[in-house]
Amino acid sequence: MNQSNINPIRQLGINLNHWYVVATSKEVKNQPLGVQLWNQNIVLFRDSLGTVHALENRCPHRHVKLSHGKIIENNLECTYHGWQFNCQGECVTVPYLEKDQKLPKNCKIKAYPVQEKQGFIWVFPGDNPDLIQPLAIPEWDDLNYIATVSVIHCQGHFSFLIENLMDMYHGHLHQDWQAWTDAMLDKIEADENRVDAYYLAQSYYKIDKIWSISQLFFPALRKLHPEPLTVSYIYPHWVSTLGEYFKIYCLFCPISLTETRAYLIHFTSLNAFWRLHKLPIKFRKFVKDLCFGSAQQLLDGLVKQDVLMIKQEQQAYLQHPQCQGYEFNRTIRSVQRLIQRQAEPST
Ligand code: FES
Ligand SMILES: [Fe+2]
Repeated sequence: MNQSNINPIRQLGINLNHWYVVATSKEVKNQPLGVQLWNQNIVLFRDSLGTVHALENRCPHRHVKLSHGKIIENNLECTYHGWQFNCQGECVTVPYLEKDQKLPKNCKIKAYPVQEKQGFIWVFPGDNPDLIQPLAIPEWDDLNYIATVSVIHCQGHFSFLIENLMDMYHGHLHQDWQAWTDAMLDKIEADENRVDAYYLAQSYYKIDKIWSISQLFFPALRKLHPEPLTVSYIYPHWVSTLGEYFKIYCLFCPISLTETRAYLIHFTSLNAFWRLHKLPIKFRKFVKDLCFGSAQQLLDGLVKQDVLMIKQEQQAYLQHPQCQGYEFNRTIRSVQRLIQRQAEPST
């Protein structure tokens, strides 16, 4: 392995020509919300119809944050002198213009392409948003999947997080918290947009009978059995499946070279309970909403452990950037190659 090819990974940028998740739908209420995506400050707000807009979070007058302002009908009003901006980012009101003064023509801030989809707010920071779509999450609206969302906020480059998620040997860190054990890498497939790593593992859970839900609460009922464990880096996001019962997504929002936010969505499948499928849709929707977040404690616990490791990796890198670790998981090299390839257009 060529050493000079490894450490620069932690210095690489993101490919801006992708959809990134900057917030959940629920986080954007009736006040503007400031978020960050790869060193860019962005303000999200809903217009009178509830449509979400994303503007540069900087008033062009005195450069204060627009996220401290107010939504006035379909415009965003700066808190300092009350200038207003429409959803295209154009200044449409300066409240104290004198008779012979006109609105400055070029007084405009950047408006970002934004979509609200599958419970999240997706922003496209590059050019040509029409060439690509946000990652599909069909389970989000599927009544047979119960979702839990956990926020990952780590003080580390995004490469540390994706390497963590693609390296199933780190299950060692989570011990009994993990749904599986004894992962063994079987094969890797990679192209210019994704890396798929196929592991074989022993799973603790088989959610195939209604009573098997109790395995989630009583460890004695769990029986180890083999299941395929697949993890995919579908740049810039991550998807994993464990047998037929669990699916997990990680939606990335890299903030800077040393800070990353992401949303982890855990889905438990109810597909095996065919009787449930016969119940009225309204009831099934009620059950789905009622069970939302049922794996919260577990997921937050796993995230906490990972975040601590990533912080330490980042600190160690900053202290000794030339110091190489040893690596035996072939997946990591494929992941790093993909990060390098994707970073090229924007560097
Ligand atoms: S700084 Fe925004 S209106 Fe003056
Ligand atoms: Fe983990």
